[in-house]
Amino acid sequence: MDAPVDVTKVRLETPRLLLRPWMDEDLEDFFAYASVDGVGPMAGWRPHENREVSRAVLRRFIDEKKTFALVLKESGHVIGSIGLERLERSEDPAPDRLGREIGYVLGKDHWGRGLMPEAVKAVIEYCFTVWNYDFLTCGHFLRNSRSRRVVEKCGFTFWKEAAYRTQLGTVEQTLLYVRYNPRKREEHHV
Ligand SMILES: CC(C)(COP(=O)(O)OP(=O)(O)OC[C@H]1O[C@@H](n2cnc3c(N)ncnc32)[C@H](O)[C@@H]1OP(=O)(O)O)[C@@H](O)C(=O)NCCC(=O)NCCS
Repeated sequence: MDAPVDVTKVRLETPRLLLRPWMDEDLEDFFAYASVDGVGPMAGWRPHENREVSRAVLRRFIDEKKTFALVLKESGHVIGSIGLERLERSEDPAPDRLGREIGYVLGKDHWGRGLMPEAVKAVIEYCFTVWNYDFLTCGHFLRNSRSRRVVEKCGFTFWKEAAYRTQLGTVEQTLLYVRYNPRKREEHHV
């Protein structure tokens, strides 16, 4: 079942990144990467056509308190996001346990430097040690081999395949993964 989440007071630091809640001032950085072709559609959403779209999504990020902004230390710019999403009923591997689904997006200019695995590992660590989650899930479209590599590098285990209806009106075969909290491992039969 859905674990509680509130990122508003959380700041995480990795060697190259700061993870913090989104702010209204992030609009330009957000629009800059979310409007680029080839980014959103791999996560199931349309590239932002204008700033108003970005502004509305940013408002939701701030209100829902479940999404981190990824700030690249060397530039100070926001270059991506990581969300701790609600679990779809059919995509809950342990309904009597607390968990969430990690979702992530990185600006195209920054792909291939291992930045997302660095960020995702920090979020996993925080969810397991501070929030005491039982598990996290993660999924990627079958054709998204870049995201598959992130999942693999972050220690998730394949769970199942499912069909996912995107905001674009398409249906994508999706691979789902789970990672249980090793500190609570004795409670699971994995
Ligand atoms: C998926 C994503 C987050 C990966 O982040 P990243 O920080 O680039 O991750 P990595 O640097 O570990 O690269 C992952 C793999 O992508 C591939 N890759 C990286 N940069 C690439 C590039 N410019 N062109 C082609 N492939 C590339 C590599 O195969 C790499 O695997 P490797 O380390 O074994 O060589 C990023 O590509 C992205 O945001 N994509 C669009 C949105 C998306 O797919 N979100 C996930 C939805 S499930």
